[in-house]
Amino acid sequence: MTVQRHPATSTVPGARDPLLSVKGLSVLLFTETATVRAVTDVAYTVHRGETLAIVGESGSGKTVMNLAPLGLMPGGVRAVVSGSVRLSGEDLTQASEDRLMQVRGRKVGVVFQDPLSALNPNRRVGPQIEEVFRLRLGLDAAASHARAIEFLRMVGIPEPERRLRMFPHEMSGGMRQRVMIAIAIAAEPELLIADEPTTALDVTIQSQLLELLMRLQKQLGMAMVLVTHDVGVVARVADRVAVMYAGEIVELGTAEEILKRPRHPYTRALLAAVPEPDAPVGSRFTGLSGSPPDLSNPAVGCAFAPRCPLVQGECTRATPMLTQAEGSGHLAACWVSTPQVAERPTR
Ligand SMILES: Nc1ncnc2c1ncn2[C@@H]1O[C@H](COP(=O)(O)OP(=O)(O)O)[C@@H](O)[C@H]1O
Ligand SMILES: [Mg+2]
Repeated sequence: MTVQRHPATSTVPGARDPLLSVKGLSVLLFTETATVRAVTDVAYTVHRGETLAIVGESGSGKTVMNLAPLGLMPGGVRAVVSGSVRLSGEDLTQASEDRLMQVRGRKVGVVFQDPLSALNPNRRVGPQIEEVFRLRLGLDAAASHARAIEFLRMVGIPEPERRLRMFPHEMSGGMRQRVMIAIAIAAEPELLIADEPTTALDVTIQSQLLELLMRLQKQLGMAMVLVTHDVGVVARVADRVAVMYAGEIVELGTAEEILKRPRHPYTRALLAAVPEPDAPVGSRFTGLSGSPPDLSNPAVGCAFAPRCPLVQGECTRATPMLTQAEGSGHLAACWVSTPQVAERPTR
C-alpha cells in the first residue's frame, strides 16, 4: 500500500492552527426569480484529523455553506461568497477558478449525495477513475490503472478489475458511492467533505459506508466535514457538531456537549424527533412541526422564533448571536436558553 498518512501533529510552525478556518462566511444565491440568503455570517473551524458534523433540516444551507466556497454550485445559480474560508492559511474566497480546481482535486475531496450526478453515465467506471489519477497526480496509463484497482480495493469493492469495466448504472447505489469515495480520496486530500453521502441508501449500506469513511479517515489522517440529517450518525462519528438553521449556525460544540446538553430549542427538537420505524429515508425531522423560513425574504429576529416553544419578546426583535453561556462548554444562538449581555461578544 503506497498510501501515506498525514501526520496528525507536526513540528512545523503553525501546525496547531486549524486546517480549515471559516469566518463571517455569507453566501447569496441569485436565481432567476429571487435572491436567496442561503448562508449568513457563519464561523467554524476544522482541525486536522477531526470530524465535524453539520446537521439541520433540508434547505438550511448545509450544502451551500460547504460547496459554494469551493466553486461548486449546481448550474444556473450564481453564488456570491463573502467572508473568509482559510484552508491551511489560504483564503479560498480570494482564489482563482483554476486554483479552486486544483484545491478540489488535491486538497479537498468531495463526496456528493448522488453519485450518479457526479459520474458520467455513458462511460465505464474504470476510465473515469483512471482519468482522475492521470489529471491530479500526473500518472501514466498503466500506473493510473494499477492505482484505480488499489483504490477500489481500499474502498471495499471486490473484484475491482471486473468493476472497472462496468457502467455506473450496472452498479448498485452503494457500490457507486464507493466509487465516488475512491475518486474523492484519490489524491489523499487533507479534508474530505461528505455531503449526505448515505442519505439515498438503505440502512445497512448506510452503516457500511459510514464505517468505510471512518476507516479511510484514520488511514489517511484526513479531517472530515460530514453533512447529515441523521442524529445517530452524529453520535457515531462526530468529534464536533454545527447545527444549522435557516442559513445560520445556531449551535456549535463537541458532539458530547451537543448531544447531552443541547441548548438551542431547535437542536432539542432535532434530537427529540425520533423517526418513525418505517419512515422513508431522508424524512427524519418530521417530528418538528412547521417549516423553515423563506430565505429570500428573511424576517427580523431569530429565524426559529415562529416554530419555537420558548419564544419571548426579544426573539422577534433581534437576531441572537452565537454565545457561550456560563457553565456551558459550547456556543448557542438563543435569547432564552443562552441569555446574552447587552454588549455581544464578537465571533
Ligand atoms: N440550485 C439552487 N437554486 C436556487 N436555490 C437554491 C439552490 N441550491 C440551494 N438553494 C437554496 O439555498 C438554501 C440552502 O440550500 P442547501 O444548502 O441546499 O440546503 P441543505 O443542504 O441544508 O438542504 C435553500 O433555501 C435552497 O432553496
Ligand atoms: Mg444539502
